[in-house]
Amino acid sequence: MTEARNVGDLSEEAAAAELAALAEILLRANQDYHADDAPQLSDAEYDRLKRRNAEIEAAFPHLKRADSPSDRVGAAPSEGFSKVSHAQRMLSLGNAFDAEEITDFDGRIRKYLGLGPNAPLRYTAEPKIDGLSLSLRYEGGKLVQAATRGDGSVGENVTANARTIDDIPQTLTGAPDLLEVRGEVYMSHADFAALNARQAEAGAKTFANPRNAAAGSLRQLDPAITRARPLRFFAYAWGALSEPLAETQKGAIDRLAALGFKTNPLTALCDGPDEMLAHYARIEQQRASLGYDIDGVVYKVDDLALQHRLGFRATTPRWAIAHKFPAELAWTRIEAIDIQVGRTGALSPVARLAPVTVGGVVVSNATLHNEDYIAGRDSNGNAIRGGKDIRVGDWVQVYRAGDVIPKVADVDLSKRPDDAQPYRFPETCPECGSAAIREEGDAVRRCSGGLICPAQAVEKLKHFVSRGAFDIEGLGAKQVEMFYHDDQLPVRTPADIFTLEARDAKNLTKLANRDGWGETSARNLFAAIEERRRVPLRRLIFALGIRHVGEVAAADLARHYGSWTALAKAVDLAGPAATRQLQADRAVARERQAAAQEGRRARIKPVRDAVWEGLDSAALAAWTDLTGIDGIGATVAVALVTSFQQPAERESIDALVAELTITDAAAPATADSPVAGKTVVFTGTLEKMTRAEAKARAEALGAKVSGSVSAKTDIVIAGPGAGSKAKKAADLGVQILDEDAWLALIDGT
Ligand code: IVH
Repeated sequence: MTEARNVGDLSEEAAAAELAALAEILLRANQDYHADDAPQLSDAEYDRLKRRNAEIEAAFPHLKRADSPSDRVGAAPSEGFSKVSHAQRMLSLGNAFDAEEITDFDGRIRKYLGLGPNAPLRYTAEPKIDGLSLSLRYEGGKLVQAATRGDGSVGENVTANARTIDDIPQTLTGAPDLLEVRGEVYMSHADFAALNARQAEAGAKTFANPRNAAAGSLRQLDPAITRARPLRFFAYAWGALSEPLAETQKGAIDRLAALGFKTNPLTALCDGPDEMLAHYARIEQQRASLGYDIDGVVYKVDDLALQHRLGFRATTPRWAIAHKFPAELAWTRIEAIDIQVGRTGALSPVARLAPVTVGGVVVSNATLHNEDYIAGRDSNGNAIRGGKDIRVGDWVQVYRAGDVIPKVADVDLSKRPDDAQPYRFPETCPECGSAAIREEGDAVRRCSGGLICPAQAVEKLKHFVSRGAFDIEGLGAKQVEMFYHDDQLPVRTPADIFTLEARDAKNLTKLANRDGWGETSARNLFAAIEERRRVPLRRLIFALGIRHVGEVAAADLARHYGSWTALAKAVDLAGPAATRQLQADRAVARERQAAAQEGRRARIKPVRDAVWEGLDSAALAAWTDLTGIDGIGATVAVALVTSFQQPAERESIDALVAELTITDAAAPATADSPVAGKTVVFTGTLEKMTRAEAKARAEALGAKVSGSVSAKTDIVIAGPGAGSKAKKAADLGVQILDEDAWLALIDGT
């Protein structure tokens, strides 16, 4: 997203505003990731923002917000869920990937226990369910608490949600007085598909896979939502117990089944590695038809006394191991290569595949990234896949790594049809025929059609209504697509959304009479649109979908300019400078190339300066101001300015703005405080209030309270008995006030 200014250079105002923006962005990122499984930020970007937040909080501790993202554990929203300390830690499992590692596992255990190679040693083998683990605590046969694993020691209290799951008994008869049952919450393939269909129907976010759907559903703050989601539970382990369940693992699982828990029917007893591997093969064979996701087989020593002797390493038991399935791979044929055009015009190639099952999921598309990737090169021109290119008609090996879009791992050249042609990447946009241009240094080719291009227009609209942007209830991607192609009531630009109701009123065929609509749904949609007519400046900027202008950059711009009028004026003024910037970039690239060819050092500065010569001073000032904003570099600035300069784009923006009431970036409460942003030091005795109170008041007014005097100190408040600090302040020429003068200064605020 953006390159941020040093935290040390931030004013209080800027820090507070940035913390507010970060809190909102990170909270939603958590929500997107966990509750909706629609992550919008990369993990790296999420971590970066989180670090930035922590840095600002460290520099301005008094500005730390009640809803600070730092108070959330990992990426999980702990807000709203209380914490639960597990009476016994919830551990994870060591992994093995092949037969040899399983014989090694058996060998290690025998060695540890001092058993010979032929001594009998039994294991259980059962599917490893791909869900999330849950610990259920029963006291006196009653379910009293349900907790997620969390970090293994402390999890989240999800009791109310767990009570809505049918597979989890509320009461037990004949159970130990204290019993913690552990197992996996998961969602079946069928329930997952139905849930996603319902979500899509409602214009809500869909989930990428059953595990994320299960996790998102269990961690809902509103148990009513969890209740509406079809979650299931398999019991496979236990935590604290008032009395043993059985003498063996299998016996304990059977006991749990007898108490009313669902246990996995593919749990088998195996005498040694050969039988374990045979059962693994059986489970793998049934994997695609189980109806739920599993990602391996778990082996556990059956004798609980031996389990006890074996005990644990730091985070995993010695007596169990997970034998993971290999990465999911399959061979299939490429039937076609299609080009999809995105919001910013990027042409993305997609392989249309003869449908093939990859780990239980039918795959018919794979991403091909960009033209270099198809040609067998990476972005630096180095060979990938041994330099093999990808052609229509090729047999390719596809894989599904976790939840992402399938990718192509390999090409079988021996099966390439004789007439297969190297793929020619289009140089015009397949959607609108405009030139598709690949800028130097960019891996991606882009349609230059802007809003003329229907694909870009639709994608832009989808972005416009997305969360973080206008977030209009009932107007999701599906509805946008529908309205875009509607000739009676078209929505082809953002402004059209806000004229929808008025236009509908003039139509003979009213929206309310259409298939799939009705009085209520039409009225609700119009109301939801109306509600968004008032929009905060930064949401508007983000919603415009300008390349490189993500939520953080949008917030930076809003904060800096304060109002739409100021922003638009500055961007217009900076127009000629952005053109120069692009020219300068090209001139520098040419000079570099020429220098390399001529074997001399490149002369960058004179070449660059020459391009900027004679630029009018207002443009230069506006450009310097724009690119001087913390977090806005030349790339963002150029993208912003050029999008405002595009006539169709500009017309669309102006029409939109005319429909809206834009709420300006709120000025921080401390803006008119006389001490905002100042560094103050209290020394000596205060007589009218305690030191703690003085500090709190100063901080509430936006001052930074420091313990030591330096050249950076603005004011020293010196009470009776002030010593070296007051002296140092005097030496440095820092303003010194007594307590009354200080109170007079901040009086009335
Ligand atoms: S036994 C002390 N059995 O896999 C070991 N875990 O990668 C307790 N899991 O955290 C775990 N199916 O969430 C066990 N049949 C199974 C399992 C299983 C899925 C999960 C569990 C655990 C993770 C470790």
